[in-house]
Amino acid sequence: MGRAPSRGLLAAYRRLMRDEPRAPRLPTSPGFWRSPLRGPRFTSVLGLVLLAGITVLFVTGLLSYAAYNPDLSPVNDKTPDKGILGLYLFAWPTNPHWLYRLNQGVHVTLGITLIPVLLAKLWSVVPRLFALPPARSLAHALERISLLLLVGGGLFEFVTGVLNVQLDYVFPGSFYPLHFYGAWVFFAAFVAHALLKTPTALRNLRRLREERDDLVSPRPAEPTVSRRGALWFVGGGSLLLFATTVGQNFGGPLRRTALLAPHGGAEPGSGPNGFQINKTAAYAGIDTAETAGDAWRLVVTGPAGTVRLSRAELAGLPLHSAALPIACVEGWSTPDQWWRGVRLRDLAALAGYEDDPPDVFVESLQRRGAFRKAALRANQVADPRSLLALYVNGEELSPDHGYPARIIVPAAPGVLNTKWVARMTFGDL
Ligand code: HEM
Repeated sequence: MGRAPSRGLLAAYRRLMRDEPRAPRLPTSPGFWRSPLRGPRFTSVLGLVLLAGITVLFVTGLLSYAAYNPDLSPVNDKTPDKGILGLYLFAWPTNPHWLYRLNQGVHVTLGITLIPVLLAKLWSVVPRLFALPPARSLAHALERISLLLLVGGGLFEFVTGVLNVQLDYVFPGSFYPLHFYGAWVFFAAFVAHALLKTPTALRNLRRLREERDDLVSPRPAEPTVSRRGALWFVGGGSLLLFATTVGQNFGGPLRRTALLAPHGGAEPGSGPNGFQINKTAAYAGIDTAETAGDAWRLVVTGPAGTVRLSRAELAGLPLHSAALPIACVEGWSTPDQWWRGVRLRDLAALAGYEDDPPDVFVESLQRRGAFRKAALRANQVADPRSLLALYVNGEELSPDHGYPARIIVPAAPGVLNTKWVARMTFGDL
């Protein structure tokens, strides 16, 4: 008798004796997928959660773009070729003053919270992505193409979003157009999918138990957790991400709970200027020689000509206060801070607009950063809480918060509240 038969052959032989079919090796075979968790009810629960969540994400995303007032000036618009996709744009309001803080806080926190649900949903339908034949009919082919746009678009949106808020955006191409156009492609495929699948999903939920379906494994492995347990696990993952992210929208001890958020944890400083900062003066390339002592002048231009004001002269003008938050486009924000300074509409009057303040074009001393220039619309200039702030929380602005002077406008994205202001040109843009 020659060499002992190989282990594989032995296993195949034993299976043969037990009359057991060969374990399918290709994912195209339903038997390849062994998890007993998959099924239409499991998938439907996740699908309906995403139906609500992604719709909120899309709407808050579109509002985030609208808050830039991108149609006011090219400096505010990072996606100028949007064409009809910009038809929904409108003049962003200044009330309620926490509007952008809420919108962006919801967009980013919900986006991150939904990640486990998205991944579980994709896992639950993976067998369908490999099902053969690729297309049984034209309608089936179209549905499969929309599924590719849906899955690809969804992953693209979540990946670019997370990269934008978490890291210093390491992705080829500008975030703005990619995330904006990606959102439209994804949401269009999402609407098609939802229209096709929601009735089925609701029917599935009404059923008491899983029906036979191409998602249900024909040869399920031994269960290690129930479907309900698996859904609790996904929910627990979302809850954990929510609990370690949402705190970045609050100050004090709650911010310390935002362990996963770049602007979570302890405040960067202490005292009146100790609250969160996005870009420091050093990062923005601010030359202290231009801001120290009496070197700086604010240049205000309008039909009345050009006025150059020192910081002392500005501080000598009527000053007003407003309690307003910093709300960053990356989804973090601060509680209301007490700002004190000159009303933008009073500066407009100096430039020659006694009544009906116009739009204003604001330029900063900063040498780096996509938003060293920004445009504000007339309604923002006219709001009595819109200030060229010189003080915050009873103290002079610190260099990192924009000393000698910075813009603060209610309900505006942080990037439009220009720091280290050098020039303001009033007039319709
Ligand atoms: C984890 C998931 C996500 C995160 C963290 C995220 C993050 C962000 C951030 C930080 C912005 C503002 C960028 C800026 O103005 O600088 C943004 C804008 C936007 N998001 Fe998301 N996002 C996510 C998912 C989504 C999804 C799923 C959609 C669509 C369904 C979406 C649609 C948009 C749109 C339309 C904008 C406006 C883009 C612009 O201002 O040009 N986002 N998102």
